[in-house]
Amino acid sequence: MQNSDNLKSLHSTSPDLKTLIQPNQSITLLKALHILTVDGKLNQDSRRKLKQVTHLINFIAPLLSEVLVNNPNPTIVDHGAGKSYLGFILYDLLLKQHAAGQVVGIETRADLVEKSKVLAADCGFDRMDFQHLSVEQSITSDALPKTVDIVTALHACNTATDDAIQFGLKKQAKYMVLVPCCQAEVAEVLRKHKNESFGKTPLSEIWRHPIHTREFGSQITNVLRCLQLEAAGYSVTVTELVGWEHSMKNELIIAKYTGQKRKNATERLDAILSEFNLQDLQTRFLA
Ligand SMILES: C[S@@+](CC[C@H](N)C(=O)[O-])C[C@H]1O[C@@H](n2cnc3c(N)ncnc32)[C@H](O)[C@@H]1O
Repeated sequence: MQNSDNLKSLHSTSPDLKTLIQPNQSITLLKALHILTVDGKLNQDSRRKLKQVTHLINFIAPLLSEVLVNNPNPTIVDHGAGKSYLGFILYDLLLKQHAAGQVVGIETRADLVEKSKVLAADCGFDRMDFQHLSVEQSITSDALPKTVDIVTALHACNTATDDAIQFGLKKQAKYMVLVPCCQAEVAEVLRKHKNESFGKTPLSEIWRHPIHTREFGSQITNVLRCLQLEAAGYSVTVTELVGWEHSMKNELIIAKYTGQKRKNATERLDAILSEFNLQDLQTRFLA
């Protein structure tokens, strides 16, 4: 069956998919990624994943167009790639039609890296590459170019998002598109200094209930990440990726390099670290 026939039958059974699956999108790829079943259906989980990835690609598309104006051969690096849904669909929708430009997936699970390599070869996506590296290792690995254009990290676990920011800073990324996962490190340091924090500030109420400490840890981590990016010369937009009913890990941080460092960003960052007894993490958030 032709792609267009597949698409027609899919849209007739699930009309809402019209907004999720584009006319030029490969149904064969969506099946190979197990987003669609062999019968061309979507289950609840894959619908959610497709929605997240599609929304993210809608945010990335104008950024890539902007990059392409000055660089016809852009590099996009996707950290914590997992099964590389984002990389594959992005390549299919945005890069396939260009003569150049590559997507590199960074992933610590060797089995996923191997599967992605096989799928890219099957699809003829010869400008996709997958590296079996941690995000931290990728910062100094010779397998990656010296500079990259766009860094993405969709639900990269724990501090992998922080490493992705360090990667973007080192590689002078023009854009960083981050949807953080939960980050446990800050909450851990908050807990470590709990007793010193009690009595210092009424904000110590945050330490009374573990769930508040954990959630606050996640939120303050993203605040610190934004300040870190602004201190390094990025302008930052923070928004929701999809409706909250689709994912609890829904914060989207888009950073664009402008070269203009926000004047008080480092000062604010240091003050927050001090206020919450988080000075142990000073190097984590260095710009
Ligand atoms: C929650 S999954 C998200 C996968 C994919 N980005 C997505 O949204 O479908 C996180 C992935 O990051 C990988 N990962 C975790 N820590 C990592 C690290 N430090 N460096 C590279 N990959 C990492 C995990 O193996 C996992 O495949």
